[in-house]
Amino acid sequence: MTIGIDKIGFATSNYVLKLKDLAEERGIDPDKLSKGLLLKELSIAPLTEDMVTLGAAAADSILTAEDRKKIDMVIVATESGIDQSKASAVFIHGLLDIQPFARSFEIKEACYGATAALDYAKLHIEKYPDSKVLVLASDIAKYGAHTPGEPTQGAGAIAMLLSRNPRILAFNDDNVAQTRDVMDFWRPNYSATPYVNGIYSTQQYLDSLKTTWAEYQKRQGLSLKDFAAFCFHLPYPKLALKGLNKIMDKSLPQAQQDQLKDNFEASILYSQKVGNIYTGSLFLGLLSLLENSDQLKAGDKIALFSYGSGAVAEIFSADLVPGYEEQLSQTRLEELNLRQPLSVADYEQLFFAEAQLDEAGNASFSGYENQTFALTEIAEHQRKYSKVEKSS
Ligand code: CAA
Repeated sequence: MTIGIDKIGFATSNYVLKLKDLAEERGIDPDKLSKGLLLKELSIAPLTEDMVTLGAAAADSILTAEDRKKIDMVIVATESGIDQSKASAVFIHGLLDIQPFARSFEIKEACYGATAALDYAKLHIEKYPDSKVLVLASDIAKYGAHTPGEPTQGAGAIAMLLSRNPRILAFNDDNVAQTRDVMDFWRPNYSATPYVNGIYSTQQYLDSLKTTWAEYQKRQGLSLKDFAAFCFHLPYPKLALKGLNKIMDKSLPQAQQDQLKDNFEASILYSQKVGNIYTGSLFLGLLSLLENSDQLKAGDKIALFSYGSGAVAEIFSADLVPGYEEQLSQTRLEELNLRQPLSVADYEQLFFAEAQLDEAGNASFSGYENQTFALTEIAEHQRKYSKVEKSS
């Protein structure tokens, strides 16, 4: 029985910050962002759009009524959750109208969480072959204005529906993980933004890649020649490019090296316009590869490198299934171009706004007409979400 990704959905916010505008306002050379980080734009989310609404929107874009009857597990990976106790997966399960006899929970290890979720989902489907599992990776990456990480912020969610006989990718049983206790990036409970040892975090990322890849090759008896593409966690695309260069096997025929490089270029197109979406970044790279590469074919093996600060890394692979193209979108880049551009002043106001609660814990919000789902109010400290009715 093959198990893997049957459908993939993506959602991001309706606002965009152009990094040339940020560079001008901050007095930095725009080439530092476009060439030094390989980033162009960032999605910016207002208060009414959080990791719950983004996750629900990503899933809503792919689920049929039949899927909602079959799903018996909803796993949400996030590092920008909205409650220390109640899982965002429970809110999302309700918003999506998924049948009640399902297990819904949240999972956390920085940007790595969704990779663990996929493996758990696979084990679940092995045991219950008729089941479908919804795995969401949803985050708003907020470093703060004037911080080194500012140009690498972003907002978005990836939804993956897992099943047997998947129509996009079939997982191979080849995961190799590594854990190392380091403080490269973390967010204490009292802080809205993370603490980051920036350069150290990039060293940890690259060293985790090198050592996990060496172990993967040793255990699996595979090497780069066996892969058509390598997808990386994308905190910003330049770091992943350094990763590709680090593992590139110069003894491979030039055509195969070129294919790996071209597929890498296809895999960063969405992240260049969305920024970092933490847990979803690796899978946004995968989606970008599948929707933009003209060099892939059924049967190709794709490697994925997952990295979550703190740190856990994992490498695993999946094979492209015949007909995978039919499950993908042709219009994603055009849709990203429909986001409303913000001035730097408006971005600072919108992205860092916090709910102003009255003494009883109430606040109501407006301006969410263009969202799919919205945080509409907080009533006695309870977050209230709804699907936004569109006027025709
Ligand atoms: N033209 C072209 N390139 C230029 C340039 C110019 N005018 N000016 C600078 N650059 C280049 C630099 O040479 C550098 O390139 P190299 O890395 O190839 O040397 C690049 O632009 C970045 O410049 P700096 O080294 O000066 O670094 P920075 O101040 O931009 O900060 C950062 C980089 C520390 C990574 C910062 O973006 C940051 O703190 N980001 C958040 C943390 C992060 O993303 N870490 C990644 C690993 S952790 C992880 O993966 C989990 C996660 O999602 C957070």
